Amino acid sequence: MTVRVKVPGKVNLALRVGGTDEAGYHELGTIFQAVSLYDEIAAEVRPEGEFRLAFQGEGAAFLPVDDTNLAMRAAKLVAARFGVEDAGCALTIRKRIPVAGGMAGGSADAAGTLLACSELWGVGASVEELSELAAQLGADVPFLLYGGTVHGTGRGDVLEPLPAAGEYHWVFALSHGGLSTPAVFREFDRLYDPRPTELPAPLVAALADGDLAVVGANLINDLEDAAISLQPTLQHTLQLGRDAGALGAVISGSGPTCAFLTDSRDAAEEVGQALAVFSGVRAVRVATGPVAGAHVVD
Ligand code: C5P
Repeated sequence: MTVRVKVPGKVNLALRVGGTDEAGYHELGTIFQAVSLYDEIAAEVRPEGEFRLAFQGEGAAFLPVDDTNLAMRAAKLVAARFGVEDAGCALTIRKRIPVAGGMAGGSADAAGTLLACSELWGVGASVEELSELAAQLGADVPFLLYGGTVHGTGRGDVLEPLPAAGEYHWVFALSHGGLSTPAVFREFDRLYDPRPTELPAPLVAALADGDLAVVGANLINDLEDAAISLQPTLQHTLQLGRDAGALGAVISGSGPTCAFLTDSRDAAEEVGQALAVFSGVRAVRVATGPVAGAHVVD
């Protein structure tokens, strides 16, 4: 038997960064939106104690396949938490979410693996039970189980749905190198004092109204300057997309992927074409949001 799960990447429409807790994690106020760039996970039963992981697709060669990988840890966490006897599995993950791109690709794979292993071993875990395990794996992991458009607080793992109308057409400009999330947070700490973590009221109101022009004008990421400080070319990428007619431009999460909001597929294609010719951009992807979180497919 093979269980197949699709899991989306995410973009942050707002990312406010506050002070740190005793473990060094920053208090966040963020709006996550799940977007239609999916990783696909295939899970097969293996003999007891055999846990295998392989990646296919873009960036696959650079990813660890041992216990340092969040997906491997997710599989073992399900086995331990639900006391699965004879647990073993082979996971094959096809990557479409950019690696180290600020779109939560690694967290998505962990969320998808939690669901895939729960199905594979028939433990019948609820999404709330999987969400508890997800929070142990990383701050972004619980959101990828739910998807949609969500307000995240705490470390980004305390979630509350946000009213969001309309269809979002996104363009993502992928960068040549990745950025390390801890390094970007460290650079933020070097450059700035903690910020208030409240969401901008005009952004929340425009989301509820489906006013994409106002949403675009109010996209905000407190990590943006830190990411640009580590990869200065991102400044130019953002400006190119704005000049090409995007309603708004923002770095996704800790970067380096740049996200551009448009209100139609045609507008997204146009902005994408303008970005694709810039040497600082490795590749362009077009996607829509919001979409559902991790789900089993036939
Ligand atoms: O939770 P996750 O492992 O995805 O976070 C990666 C790193 O990002 C953390 O080790 C920390 O350096 C930084 N981080 C943070 N505050 C958060 C989330 C992540 O400082 N709320």
